[in-house]
Amino acid sequence: MFRVVQRLTVNHTMLKALRGTKDILPDEARLWQYIEASSRYIFSIYGYKEIRTPVIEEASLFIRSIGNATDIVQKEMYVFTDRGGRQIALRPEATASVVRSYIENSIGNKEGLSKLFYIGPMFRSERPQKGRQRQFHQLGVEAIGSDAPLLDAEIILLAGDLLKKLNIHNFKIKINSLGCKKDKEKILEDHRKAIKPHLKSLCDECNERYEKNVLRVFDCKNPECQKIVSKIDAANSLCKDCEGHFKSVKSALDELKVAYEVDPRIVRGLDYYTKTVFEIVQEDLGAKDAICAGGRYNNLIQDMGGKSTPATGFAFGIERLILAIKDSDVKSGPSLDAFIAIVDKDKFKQGFALLSSLRKKGIACDIDYEDKSLKAQMRKAEKLGARFVIIFGGDEFKKGKVALRDMMKREQREVELEDITKEICDYTA
Ligand code: HAM
Repeated sequence: MFRVVQRLTVNHTMLKALRGTKDILPDEARLWQYIEASSRYIFSIYGYKEIRTPVIEEASLFIRSIGNATDIVQKEMYVFTDRGGRQIALRPEATASVVRSYIENSIGNKEGLSKLFYIGPMFRSERPQKGRQRQFHQLGVEAIGSDAPLLDAEIILLAGDLLKKLNIHNFKIKINSLGCKKDKEKILEDHRKAIKPHLKSLCDECNERYEKNVLRVFDCKNPECQKIVSKIDAANSLCKDCEGHFKSVKSALDELKVAYEVDPRIVRGLDYYTKTVFEIVQEDLGAKDAICAGGRYNNLIQDMGGKSTPATGFAFGIERLILAIKDSDVKSGPSLDAFIAIVDKDKFKQGFALLSSLRKKGIACDIDYEDKSLKAQMRKAEKLGARFVIIFGGDEFKKGKVALRDMMKREQREVELEDITKEICDYTA
């Protein structure tokens, strides 16, 4: 927790980005844009509309929804008291904010099932490591207003479709059901009974979790604890209704040909979950680090003061998606359609006119303003990721032609000066 500092002090040493935060520099930003555009496309195909909620909220929103005994609320939330004495939190996730907005703006009155998506930064004060940051970014969906098992199956299908669109294939979908409120209480009791005999061998933190939030014992990163809990039978017993619901989710997934695995250890770290929960892991990232996680939260809307409304959703961590994207041509794809290299200085004006006319036609292109050698200009074109270089000047120019170099194919040919605009436009069409 931190308070608003009244008397500000100035650090005169070299300033750096805070630990656990990162600048997204232009080269990497292209990949972010690609992921965001792909997810917007898939979300819209499935009928989801964007919602943008504030980054700051009353801290109570997260304490009441995520749960007071969770790691997020106890250890990870950035909370400060503002000048009006209010406790404000930087959002650690978006489900609670979307639910707050859903209730506050009566979104449910306008449509039966509200399908919403979001993309944005979240904040958790965790120990930074690969794929784990203090400011990270999620893209997620919330479908509010239906308990249909088909909807559970559909959002899992949607998450898988997004991964395939991003060329990520080696992922595993793990599902489980926590049942209704009563089932969940029974599951907690069963887990307590199963873990109790092992308490002396488990770490202090696990002992604390046993008291406050027993399901979290399964998440302990301590290898000794992992060895012990891996042998504990975590099977869940559900009531008839919830068992039937889970069965229907599984058969819908089978019909949709979605590969999944039932894993009773998927219990999720936030308190609001009920019934179907799931996580998607990618082999290369390590089984502990999910790229995507979600599930049903049928009681949350009522618990937060709204009408009883069933809901489900998920969120991807964008940093983890980036780690998972490998060998994708997105990273190496051109970021510039054309670069104009000037051989004879006196041709700069003509080259610049071509640059302007190409840009007017929507062609992404650039030029060097520094009067550098052709070699240096070619290096710059390479660095900028140009697909073509148009070489202005030299022997070709005397014949009314320019040299057009295809940087990807490493080929060069002569093109009539008057045809060059059409040539580049045809390629980018
Ligand atoms: P979560 O499991 O806390 O669930 O986070 C979802 C995803 O966000 C994780 O699977 C991971 O990819 C990413 N993530 C979480 N923490 C970090 C971090 N410190 N650094 C990088 N990535 C991280 C939720 O947040 C729920 N609101 C998901 C949901 C939506 N459930 C229903 N609707």
